[in-house]
Amino acid sequence: MKNTVATLQQQKESADKITMLTAYDYSTARLMDSSGIDAILVGDSLGMVMLGYESTIPVTVEDMIHHGKAVVRGVKNALVVVDMPFLSYQVSVEKAVENAGRIMKETGAQAIKLEGGREVVAQAKAIVSASVPVMGHLGLTPQSVNAFGGYKVQGKSFDQAEKLIDDALALQDAGVFAIVLECVPAALAELVSSLIAIPTIGIGAGAGCDGQVLVYQDMLALYSDITPKFVKQFGDIGPAIKHAFEDYISETKQGSFPGVEHSYAIDESIIKQLSQKYEG
Ligand code: KIV
Repeated sequence: MKNTVATLQQQKESADKITMLTAYDYSTARLMDSSGIDAILVGDSLGMVMLGYESTIPVTVEDMIHHGKAVVRGVKNALVVVDMPFLSYQVSVEKAVENAGRIMKETGAQAIKLEGGREVVAQAKAIVSASVPVMGHLGLTPQSVNAFGGYKVQGKSFDQAEKLIDDALALQDAGVFAIVLECVPAALAELVSSLIAIPTIGIGAGAGCDGQVLVYQDMLALYSDITPKFVKQFGDIGPAIKHAFEDYISETKQGSFPGVEHSYAIDESIIKQLSQKYEG
């Protein structure tokens, strides 16, 4: 059955942990969906793990739509959420609603995600009023990496922690259906999760959140430019893929690939006639 924002709310209420992973293409989304994942995030992290940028800043609405469409085609059951990229919602409420609407119309996803607290409440409210479900994102919000001065844990001081709680309450009041908490102390994430009625989905925010999300390249050892402390590698797929590439190169060079079993046959007499005709 297709998951909706209501499914995630029921999961919070019944203490059934929400599972979410990022995906950016059809084949991976299909594998995740058939594994029983609750939700898939087409994260703007695609700028780094798929496109090779140093941050998520250069990602465009077109990039998100291109990858979002592919993911939606591979998914039957999971809730699909697409990130709004940098400056697609911060500039004005009108621009935010327009871009959120475009992402929903052109990808077929069920929700969008945007980063920030009180400073984006007007945008979140307006998008929700346009009947687009909004997921919030607090703590280490990667689009603000330059303002933070790097990828650092957020919410460690009293003031920062109080601001995070205030932002979570403001987003809830704005009507968002869930909030990602990234790279914040576990005890703070647990407190926020108990203070708000909507689900929290943690990444580097401990076990007290209502769900977890990971970037799939991180959890499969497919991306090694940055390896945050909070990543657990559930598979060592990167090295396995590299071995397969090396085997392919070596077998092709040696001539052992392709074998007869990978080749198509033709009647020998045809080749004989053709050889006589062209080679004499
Ligand atoms: O872009 C992304 O992948 C994200 C996750 C890290 C939550 O926002």
